[in-house]
Amino acid sequence: MERTSARRGALISLEGGEGAGKTTVLGALRARLEARGHRVVGTREPGGTPAGEAIRALLLDPAHPWVPHAELLLMFASRAQLVDTLVEPALARGDTVLADRFTDASFAYQGGGRGLPAGLIAELERVVVRRTPDLTLLLDLDVAQGLARARARGGPADRIEQEREDFFERVRATYRARAAADPARIAVVDAAQPVEAVVRDACAALDRFLDRWERGA
Ligand SMILES: Nc1ncnc2c1ncn2[C@@H]1O[C@H](COP(=O)(O)OP(=O)(O)OP(=O)(O)O)[C@@H](O)[C@H]1O
Ligand SMILES: [Mg+2]
Repeated sequence: MERTSARRGALISLEGGEGAGKTTVLGALRARLEARGHRVVGTREPGGTPAGEAIRALLLDPAHPWVPHAELLLMFASRAQLVDTLVEPALARGDTVLADRFTDASFAYQGGGRGLPAGLIAELERVVVRRTPDLTLLLDLDVAQGLARARARGGPADRIEQEREDFFERVRATYRARAAADPARIAVVDAAQPVEAVVRDACAALDRFLDRWERGA
């Protein structure tokens, strides 16, 4: 008989503004999880599935002047596809999902940044996503510093990266407010430090979470 008692995997998300270092620390977090015996599935948003990556291209294309509600619904269309085809099956298998951005990003960008009501986003989260991450690492960084890093990375700025600085200040403030309101889930990491220190702090927060999670707490 098939065992049904296996525990579902953990959903861990990485959040932060442009150039905060999410993608940079992802590899170290994956290695840490694997060293502790977890099978890891990595995702990114918007995107993470073939359909989602097509939506990502539309969303980030500066040629499309998406109105805020269209942007919000495209984000959730991509996330719906990701949750149903990738995240939920992985969690059900007992795999750990490591997400480069998740629903908190919609609260920060489409809520804080674009000014859409948090209640609407919470309702989409409830109906479409049906899950909150078990752990979120918020890489918090001064806006100008993050934008400078993202620009130094090279390549043309995408539609969101072309926003004004006050947009990103609202994004950052929303992320920080969410972390302050839910410190048990969201760990804030000082992303202004050198990469090694950011990785160290992120891994320490991950370890604290895993110590609880692996005990079944
Ligand atoms: N702690 C750090 N100190 C200095 N530079 C960093 C640090 N972390 C990342 N970088 C560099 O900053 C740039 C942005 O990092 P990264 O792409 O990881 O950010 P991100 O949060 O994934 O950005 P985006 O939101 O655009 O996906 C990269 O060139 C990276 O090498
Ligand atoms: Mg990135």
